[in-house]
Amino acid sequence: MRKKIIIGNWKMYKTMKEAEEFLTEFNEQTTGWSFDCDYGVAASFTNLHVLKAKKASDFIIAAQNCHDQAQGAFTGEVATNMLEELDVSYVIIGHSERREYFNETNESINRKLNWIFSSSKLLPILCCGETLAQYEKQETKKVIEEQIKAALKDLKQEDISKLVIAYEPIWAIGTGKTATDVEAQSVCSEIRNIVANLYSKDIADQVRIQYGGSVKPENIKTFLAQPDIDGALVGSASLKVADFINLLN
Ligand code: 13P
Repeated sequence: MRKKIIIGNWKMYKTMKEAEEFLTEFNEQTTGWSFDCDYGVAASFTNLHVLKAKKASDFIIAAQNCHDQAQGAFTGEVATNMLEELDVSYVIIGHSERREYFNETNESINRKLNWIFSSSKLLPILCCGETLAQYEKQETKKVIEEQIKAALKDLKQEDISKLVIAYEPIWAIGTGKTATDVEAQSVCSEIRNIVANLYSKDIADQVRIQYGGSVKPENIKTFLAQPDIDGALVGSASLKVADFINLLN
């Protein structure tokens, strides 16, 4: 049985003060509670130490990116061991915003995944998803297959089952539009098939697949009820404590 995983992606939102206020309020409102899922947030690098200092023990700290080498003259980049020092356990890789605005490619994403698994205990949340034009041309599955195959190239079999894959249709991100639960299930099931064909059904059955794109407290249940959707990657609805708690509930 795959445990659900719900991660808030804070993107470039929240100062340290705001992150601290969020965690203080979250902790106050959830004291003594336990959630039936893995959960946490992916925050800006500057907020990671605030989360480390304030978080409850089962709250996951995730980063939104990392570099594919140990160290070096790479201005503006962050290494996996720097993230591990801050108790980061997951890192989002290949978000569509990074592909679009920061020239990330299937190849650079593949280098990062190989590096993460070979250098650290971090677990990647690999993002994939099609543009609106690709969706309208019914190219979704072709695009997803290209992205997944390229991203997983040369990864070790034993690492694949630890992976989280987030299916985020780009046209659903920040737009208020979502894929229907049936559409999202269909693509997530296809992702599992792709992994099964590359590795094995047993491995594919262990991979957790999230849906992302305008997930809100009002619609999360219909996505999580789907057999191949094991969680959500949530942008704007993770920014307010009340919404985030409702998502987890
Ligand atoms: P929204 O939930 O704001 O649509 O963002 C989704 C996303 O990009 C999560 O990574």
